[in-house]
Amino acid sequence: MTLHLPATAIDEAAALLRRGELVAFPTETVYGLGADAGDDRAVAAIFAAKDRPRFNPLIVHVADPGDAQRLARFDERASLLAARFWPGPLSLVLPRAERCPVSLLASAGLDTLAVRMPAHALARELIRRAGRPLAAPSANRSGRVSPTTAAHVAAELDGRIAAILDGGPCAVGLESTVLDLSGPRPRLLRPGGLPLEALEAMLGPVERAAAGETPRAPGMLASHYAPALAVRLGATAVAPDEALLAFGPNPPRGAMRTINLSEGGDLIEAAANLFAALRALDRTDCAAIAVMPIPELGLGLAINDRLRRAAER
Ligand code: TXA
Ligand code: MG
Repeated sequence: MTLHLPATAIDEAAALLRRGELVAFPTETVYGLGADAGDDRAVAAIFAAKDRPRFNPLIVHVADPGDAQRLARFDERASLLAARFWPGPLSLVLPRAERCPVSLLASAGLDTLAVRMPAHALARELIRRAGRPLAAPSANRSGRVSPTTAAHVAAELDGRIAAILDGGPCAVGLESTVLDLSGPRPRLLRPGGLPLEALEAMLGPVERAAAGETPRAPGMLASHYAPALAVRLGATAVAPDEALLAFGPNPPRGAMRTINLSEGGDLIEAAANLFAALRALDRTDCAAIAVMPIPELGLGLAINDRLRRAAER
């Protein structure tokens, strides 16, 4: 059911991506599991295919630096690094641009976005022909090592994604270096294919993120989006001064405002709507956000993980 496409079938791969399907593709670092970065549902499907128990933010891949500048705000440091190291194994975490078209789920509700321009010509051509930026984590199941051949991807994700575009083995074989430039001081979030020394030669000393604050747990990042209102989980009834985050066909009535994550009880649809819904409900004319129970299976795990952290603050 997963198509195994040779590099020459790039148009077919691009067409699948435009239809909201998942396509694994080669980059110079590792294979990525790509989806249209602007399509909430497609991005939610990435988390489902990987069996990810929580939403961590994804890197958005572009075909040229101009595209990245429409998605994120580049300061002088970012422009300098992009000019020097792109295309290449460097992901820059930057503030989202105003009217950034990338799904909130792709950046796990953060106000920042990781962007990178891969050095693999096939990857850039795929992005170009898809005509949109691609959100892509490494194309492995959650908790497994990153794949560096199409066969590795097939072993992990066959039957779960629409296609694998085979571009041969990855040259770097190690994920990209992730550098956070969203604050005043540059911080290394993940060492990777571009050596730290190369960055420090341009920026001066770069701080390293402590192990406990790696972006694997985006809830720990200072810029992490958390609702201002209190969040009440497991709600089966609502008060008239509450906002209701509903799930499924029969939400309780009487909330001041209700958004249903998925009337049909579809967890992928619910994940796709989660961050936008939280933001929309987080208005001070309500006392709290009541959240209906969401099943602990499939993407429900990641949805509940995110909601629990919103409730704990
Ligand atoms: O080489 C790579 O980077 C590969 C290829 C496919 O490009 N991609 C990759 O993606 O390794 P992934 O999802 O496995 O790792 C992305 C890393 C994670 O550590 C994530 O937390 C961090 O980037 N990240 C993404 N967006 C972020 C953000 N807005 N703030 C902080 N960290 C972010
Ligand atoms: Mg990964």
